[in-house]
Amino acid sequence: MVIVDADDVDVVSGIAWELGVGGIEEHVRPDTRVELRIGCEAERAQLVLDALSSKWSPTAESVAADEGLDAWREHAQSWRVGNMVIVPPWLETPLELADNDQVFFIDPGHAFGSASHETTRMCLAVLAELVVPGCSVADIGCGSGVLAIVAAHVGASRVIATDIAAEAIVSSLENVRRNGVEDIVEVSTAKVEEFAHASFDLVVANIGAATLCAMANELVRITKLGGVLVLSGILGEQAEGVISALETAGAANFEVRADGEWRTVVCERS
Ligand SMILES: C[S@@+](CC[C@H](N)C(=O)[O-])C[C@H]1O[C@@H](n2cnc3c(N)ncnc32)[C@H](O)[C@@H]1O
Repeated sequence: MVIVDADDVDVVSGIAWELGVGGIEEHVRPDTRVELRIGCEAERAQLVLDALSSKWSPTAESVAADEGLDAWREHAQSWRVGNMVIVPPWLETPLELADNDQVFFIDPGHAFGSASHETTRMCLAVLAELVVPGCSVADIGCGSGVLAIVAAHVGASRVIATDIAAEAIVSSLENVRRNGVEDIVEVSTAKVEEFAHASFDLVVANIGAATLCAMANELVRITKLGGVLVLSGILGEQAEGVISALETAGAANFEVRADGEWRTVVCERS
């Protein structure tokens, strides 16, 4: 747990998500500071404490398995992005639905990807705009599989969803089945370096700035010439570094979209 000023919530959450935590709950205190309850396995807790303690005063406590990671489910809600509505399957659909709305039932389990985060929603909006019928998509760092599932629904004919976390693979497999796209979306544990050269028309990775910079060459390599990269999990001050790594790797025509502190970089393999 760590108590931070409201302005620091996105930065601290960004650091924690990059370290692979399973969930973050925010509680605004009467003094307007924000209590962040960060749920992760015991072995990851020390990494989080080390990363945050130079500037904040995080503390750690053991909780029964799942207790810290599942508390958010009580407060879960549906999220709308354009005409897409992402609904936790244990809730009724509480948003007003229009005739052309598309509803997706996504249970992230202990993975990331309920659409509660700005970066997920920005990626969903870009996919709805840029996925063209019949195209191929790679979702690197798929979490709940939400981006891959939406890509399949909006027209992709082949989608690979991959992640390094076991809980993400479990969650993605369930959500792919739940949303009826198992013929289109392949959930895979393959690492990005294992994909063949220039395989995909569109590559999406909502994965954090440090990881994006480290895998920039691979992300560009697996994108077809003229294909699109959609990269998120980037804080405002990190965008320049990510763009520079991608440019060196062979990407061009950069567009940066913003939602609060968060950025999504859209570019092409030139
Ligand atoms: C912020 S979550 C994004 C989940 C989902 N795609 C979304 O947009 O909501 C990032 C995911 O990337 C995964 N990840 C981190 N490093 C990775 C790597 N090197 N290769 C593949 N996945 C990775 C994490 O396990 C996590 O599930």
